[in-house]
Amino acid sequence: MSAPTDAAQWYPLRRVEDRARELADHYAEVVGTRPTGVWAAPGRVNLIGEHVDYNDGLCLPMALPQNTLVAAGTRGDGRLVAHSAQRPGEPVEVALADVGPGRPPGWGGYVAGAVAMLLDGAEGLGRNDFGLTAMVDSDVPVGAGLSSSAALSCSTILAADDLLGTGWATDDGGRGRLVDACVRAENEVAQAPTGGMDQAAALRCTAGHALLLDCRDGCVEQVPFDLVAHDLALLVVDTRAEHSHSGGEYANRRAGCEAAARDLGVASLREVVDAPLDETLNRLSDNALKPLVRHVVSEIGRVRDVVDLLRAGRVREIGPVLDASHVSLRDDYRVSAKELDLAVYTARVAGALGARMTGGGFGGSAIALVPADAATEVAEHVHASFTAARLRPPGFLLAQPSAAGHRVL
Ligand code: GLA
Repeated sequence: MSAPTDAAQWYPLRRVEDRARELADHYAEVVGTRPTGVWAAPGRVNLIGEHVDYNDGLCLPMALPQNTLVAAGTRGDGRLVAHSAQRPGEPVEVALADVGPGRPPGWGGYVAGAVAMLLDGAEGLGRNDFGLTAMVDSDVPVGAGLSSSAALSCSTILAADDLLGTGWATDDGGRGRLVDACVRAENEVAQAPTGGMDQAAALRCTAGHALLLDCRDGCVEQVPFDLVAHDLALLVVDTRAEHSHSGGEYANRRAGCEAAARDLGVASLREVVDAPLDETLNRLSDNALKPLVRHVVSEIGRVRDVVDLLRAGRVREIGPVLDASHVSLRDDYRVSAKELDLAVYTARVAGALGARMTGGGFGGSAIALVPADAATEVAEHVHASFTAARLRPPGFLLAQPSAAGHRVL
């Protein structure tokens, strides 16, 4: 356990080009040849629209300045060999033809799964036709609910797409196909039940914008989100409380939503968003499902409200909508945690305009919209509240809406 300190702990942020050059050198030392290139994909925070992606809903994520990098080169033997700068001496090696549910296990599943799914979807190529040597390095905090997993699968698929010559990453439609391949890699190989928002953020965001993602048809719209012009900052608090998708709670909420949709006779809860909420709730035969439906329907409405406010340049006014989202996730959807509630509460008391948990919940991170000159002070207050509650000190970073994954070197 880390020793208590007086100051809030900020995650360092380095220039991605510098990190890429160092990673290429590191690859050359370990592998013995230079990599062909280095590709990056970012972590994300979701501004609003939580637990709605798997209900065909609307969400509004943005890419973080933190990235996972993959230095890579091809090999001719149909194998994937992946090294991690974070886990030296523990390479993952697998024949791509053998990649399947739980194979390889752990982080290697995200890397191998992404390459295998791309090959499965590419015309005229089989899993024996292409091999990849990769070295990964990430400054996306792991286990913080900031989508380090999607950053890993997406940076890998960008490398494979470029090296293989499929070239899907060159336009947004092709990037949508890469998103689908990464979701399959995570669901089927890594066996993580993710809904698709994280991969879309990593591959389809643009700097200075939040990504309005319509999960019903995969359409996106870039919504300007200029924090600097409004003297604002988006503070991310990694509560360092363990969150896990494999813990059955995520799957349980998802199953509840599917049961509610079946009960209402619709394909997904998206179909009831424009109906009067009371009538929809009255039609549900199982009372236990009512809070889930109330969250999903109201949260999609909040995404629309935030998008309208952002389009109108009324950025400060999204604060209360973020607060309402947190209450709904805490009380109706029941995916918050005491650490998230404390971070949100303390940030609000210390001057945040609005705050909420972000991502899957049960731990992970919260976001707080703060006046730019108050970011440090709000972080210090949150830090102090965790110390007083005898909780592990949280980690902090500032989210600037950043670019999607791309080739760096
Ligand atoms: C996780 C999943 C996403 C999404 C969020 C909740 O991050 O990977 O697909 O469901 O939880 O909004």
